[in-house]
Amino acid sequence: MSPSIHILHENPAWLPPFAEALERRGLPWSEWFLERATFDLALPPPLGVFYNRMSASSHTRGHRFSAELTAATLAWLTRWGRRVINGPGALDLEISKVRQYAALERHGLETPRTVLVAGPDRIVAAAGRYFAAAPVILKPNRGGKGLGVRLFHDAAALAAHLQGPDYEPPVDGLQLLQEYVRAARPVITRAEFVGGRFLYALEVDTSQGFELCPADACAVGGTNRPLGEAPPARFRIVEGIPSLLRERMERFLAANDIEIAGLEFIADQGGRLLVYDVNTNTNYNPEAEARAGRAGTPGSGPGAVAEFLETELRRLHAEAA
Ligand SMILES: Nc1ncnc2c1ncn2[C@@H]1O[C@H](COP(=O)(O)OP(=O)(O)O)[C@@H](O)[C@H]1O
Ligand SMILES: [Mg+2]
Repeated sequence: MSPSIHILHENPAWLPPFAEALERRGLPWSEWFLERATFDLALPPPLGVFYNRMSASSHTRGHRFSAELTAATLAWLTRWGRRVINGPGALDLEISKVRQYAALERHGLETPRTVLVAGPDRIVAAAGRYFAAAPVILKPNRGGKGLGVRLFHDAAALAAHLQGPDYEPPVDGLQLLQEYVRAARPVITRAEFVGGRFLYALEVDTSQGFELCPADACAVGGTNRPLGEAPPARFRIVEGIPSLLRERMERFLAANDIEIAGLEFIADQGGRLLVYDVNTNTNYNPEAEARAGRAGTPGSGPGAVAEFLETELRRLHAEAA
């Protein structure tokens, strides 16, 4: 069989934009839905380019072991020398914010002050000890879509939440307490990279609360909006980010086996740029791309990904010839 593109994932709802972009280019591709699988380690995988889109939030869709299955699959693919985009190093960071922050800091990228807590009975005491009377963010080490990310203004509210019905212990047992970053403007920025290079940045208006996920598939309701009224443009593409930040981000990605990712940061009131989330499985906002005149072009997220995958596939063909 001739080489093809294989997308490793566990959420079919996030595939259509990529399917469309690949098909527009007439590229051969298949999906590897990593929830169930059977493969013989002694046999070679199919030929091709493998794009890993495993998500940190896979366990929230009933796929508790997809990350583990992906790690195993990536080991098999790399043992056979397959071209993997977002390989084992990327998965390692995708599922652990602590490992993300350690790697970001090594590359000169500042992260919010964060305290790791293993053991639910320690959370309130840790908040008191490390954050005193300051507001604090509670978030899971393995996160995604903003699930479990909450802001608390005092210890009593935090304690009540931990005892309440909405609290879900993190899937890996690791809870993070984090400095609440007061943004200079009510936005967060998500810098998108494809092929290890900066593509564009998406500014997300956070005045209505925390940003969750930019993909269409994550859009929440909106049904009680008055008829005829346009939805508020919460997502806006900006063409650039500070060049030092961009260079450091590109070096961080290269050093960590990541070629496609969205890196989220906040500019605080003191002028610091704090990076707090690395998404190696990134989804793009179609309305923002349309407004920026990028939809359906290689300047869109899915378009850039498809172009990159095509380049890598052609490289394989050239090597085989
Ligand atoms: N330290 C922080 N200070 C202020 N806002 C934050 C902080 N951490 C997260 N947020 C807000 O919560 C959202 C979700 O947090 P994030 O760390 O990105 O979790 P996830 O991995 O689930 O996307 C962010 O996009 C941002 O709007
Ligand atoms: Mg995030």
